Amino acid sequence: MFASTTTPFDDVSTHAVTDKHSDNGSRDPIVIVGGGIIGLALGWQLLRRRKRVTIVERDRAGRAASWIAAGMLAPHSEVGFEEEDFLQAGLQSLKQYPRFLDELEQDSGRKVSLDSRGTLIVAFNRDDSERIRRLYDFRQQLGLPVEWFTGSDAIDVEPSLSAKTTGAIWLPDDSQVNNRSLVDALKEAFARRGGVLRENTNVTSILLLEDRAIGVKTNDELLSASRVVLAAGCWSGQIGGVPTEILPPVRPVKGQLVSLCMDSEFKLAHVIRAPDVYIIPKDDGRVIVGATQEEMGFDTTPTAGPVMRMLERGWEAVPSIYDLAIDAIEVGLRPGSRDNAPIIGASPIENLYYATGHFRHGILLAPLTAYALTDLIVEGVTSYDLKPFATSRFFATKKTVGKRLARQDQWNCS
Ligand code: GLY
Repeated sequence: MFASTTTPFDDVSTHAVTDKHSDNGSRDPIVIVGGGIIGLALGWQLLRRRKRVTIVERDRAGRAASWIAAGMLAPHSEVGFEEEDFLQAGLQSLKQYPRFLDELEQDSGRKVSLDSRGTLIVAFNRDDSERIRRLYDFRQQLGLPVEWFTGSDAIDVEPSLSAKTTGAIWLPDDSQVNNRSLVDALKEAFARRGGVLRENTNVTSILLLEDRAIGVKTNDELLSASRVVLAAGCWSGQIGGVPTEILPPVRPVKGQLVSLCMDSEFKLAHVIRAPDVYIIPKDDGRVIVGATQEEMGFDTTPTAGPVMRMLERGWEAVPSIYDLAIDAIEVGLRPGSRDNAPIIGASPIENLYYATGHFRHGILLAPLTAYALTDLIVEGVTSYDLKPFATSRFFATKKTVGKRLARQDQWNCS
């Protein structure tokens, strides 16, 4: 059983070698490093496919970037120029959301609602209007559902918008969820399906035998694993045991959010994106005003200037936020890869997978990542083409890495 997965290292290696190519029939679980939304969603889906799963989380599961997030499911708004791989993945994941939430309700007993009321990207002057016109044209070229609104059309749809609104683009298919209810439901589903969650446990290294992952080392124990998945968000690049040149190149990207408390007068139905800010009504009575995007390393200090600017920009778009009470100012660290696209799939090391680097899109891409990676781990293939997100775009070839690992044969096992 799971308790027996903590063994002296010699036993760990022997066990894994015996069962080297598959977790089928193995007594060892799949170990996921990281209990954010990606690790939880993947772990839960693997349990649904009758795999044993242990998640090891450095803090409390789901309380880092997945918690301090806005819950937007917004491929139509967020797609940048020349980001069509992200767009396709985002659209696919958004399409999978209803099934994902239905399965989650069955397994957790908790309903997490999909709010599909759409998004407005708004403009307040000629400069903004020209900017959103380019966004509109690009989305039209891609054949996405998008409409151009005059300022008064936009205010008809969303009366809380500023009277200064000069125009908007309407993205009817972008949606949102309550990300906090979602991660709590995932935790519940994971537990009810028999998953083992070790919180407040730091994985210091991934254990390799030759060029194969066979377990992980935590602060105080060794866990053997049939497979290891590195899903540790912005900490994914810091794990030991794997040669640094093939660790996922992931960095923290600081995001500050302000949560306001809705009062009985306040009405906002849609997600609003305005220059430098978004304003999002949540089903738990909060209004999120977010988010900064700062390269500040692992600094999680809330700071006055960016928060002041964000609130001012938010107030320009939706003036009625002015009187709302502040619930919290919070800081999350998004996992940004070198090219800001996710890293999903097999690593150059056998039995080691990566599911990280989701940057601004962890909540959106959770279903796609969980379903596709579960297929890959369980069946060896996935119907969704993960090639654009392959780790190989950053690293040396498997052959080169294999040679390097062979050279340092004893290095990880001594
Ligand atoms: N997904 C929005 C953000 O990261 O701010």
